[in-house]
Amino acid sequence: MIILGIESSCDETAAAVLEVRGARALLVSNVCASQVSIHAKTGGVVPEVAARNHVGSILAVITKAYSKRKPAHSAGRPDYIAVTVGPGLVTSVSVGVACARALSVLWNIPIVAVNHIEGHLYSNWLPPVGGISNFKFQISNIEFPALVLIASGGHTELILMRDHGKYKKVGQTLDDAVGEAFDKVAKILGLGYPGGPAISRHAESGDSQRFDFPRALLNDSTRIFDFSFSGLKTSVLYCVRELNAQEIFSKEIIPDLCASFQRAAVDVLVAKTSRAAQLYRVKSVLLGGGVVANAELRSRMQTDLEREAPQCVLHIPALAFCTDNAAMIAMAGYFHAQKNDFTPLQKLDVKGGWEL
Ligand code: KG4
Ligand code: ZN
Repeated sequence: MIILGIESSCDETAAAVLEVRGARALLVSNVCASQVSIHAKTGGVVPEVAARNHVGSILAVITKAYSKRKPAHSAGRPDYIAVTVGPGLVTSVSVGVACARALSVLWNIPIVAVNHIEGHLYSNWLPPVGGISNFKFQISNIEFPALVLIASGGHTELILMRDHGKYKKVGQTLDDAVGEAFDKVAKILGLGYPGGPAISRHAESGDSQRFDFPRALLNDSTRIFDFSFSGLKTSVLYCVRELNAQEIFSKEIIPDLCASFQRAAVDVLVAKTSRAAQLYRVKSVLLGGGVVANAELRSRMQTDLEREAPQCVLHIPALAFCTDNAAMIAMAGYFHAQKNDFTPLQKLDVKGGWEL
């Protein structure tokens, strides 16, 4: 099985080729054209600009991904295409979907419509290291039931996964996604876009105890597995205003603000994931989404789960597969194709707000 994965739901134009034979797989290529430097100028993603840039780069990205296919598989085409159809920016998603549609007609191959969140979740089945072409690996045999924490720029959710394709959302953010909070706090601190990497870099040398930021809903008995990050972001804003009013805000204070903010966000993510893992007696815990690239979240999740839920095996995707990529879309597509879950062209549609 050779799968071409296509992803364009936000500001990364990505394509990957994945080959699977039984439990053995080969990630032939994983190509991504990032628009980060373009959106950094405006401090965030402008949808129309993102879509135009997808149009400009998608063919080159697909060509590059597909040209790495090994000559031994010379059928001249993949067996099928897996493409993100949502959730995401409708204008951005449309570019990938239009391309997939054209290639599907040209090559006469079926399409699997993939949910972007499901893609993040399937990054756990990708190899333990990322960024290497022609990488051979065994597809992990992850045990169910599994609890999935999705922590990205648009979503923060806890999902109970009973089997492939069987999902139940058990918690979600009531306002901002955690990645959005990282991005907004970075903006408040003048650290540029995207905020997550900048905050985690500054946090490394900061004192996480210096500022006591709120851990919303941490002990709320009715919203046990829900999240809220907008109050945390506002607290940082008020704190910075106060520091400015007292004329003690300076560059030197930024690492402490970053570390304290990051600690508050990670505390909530880890505590709720650990509690849900215990309550639902899951065998595995999976993480997915751009915020999972955060070093503190990765290490805290490891130590806290080992202590609180030692029966669970924790799976954390390789760094390269945390942020948006097409390899994860190809992997999700593979599991759908196993069940003949293809989408006829007349039903292929962009679903900007698609809930898993
Ligand atoms: O999954 P993703 O690439 O796109 C969405 O589907 O939203 O996630 C992007 C988010 C951004 O908010 C970015 O700031 C955040 O992931 N992010 C991080 C880190 N790297 C990326 N957040 C915290 N720490 C990081 N190291
Ligand atoms: Zn994403």
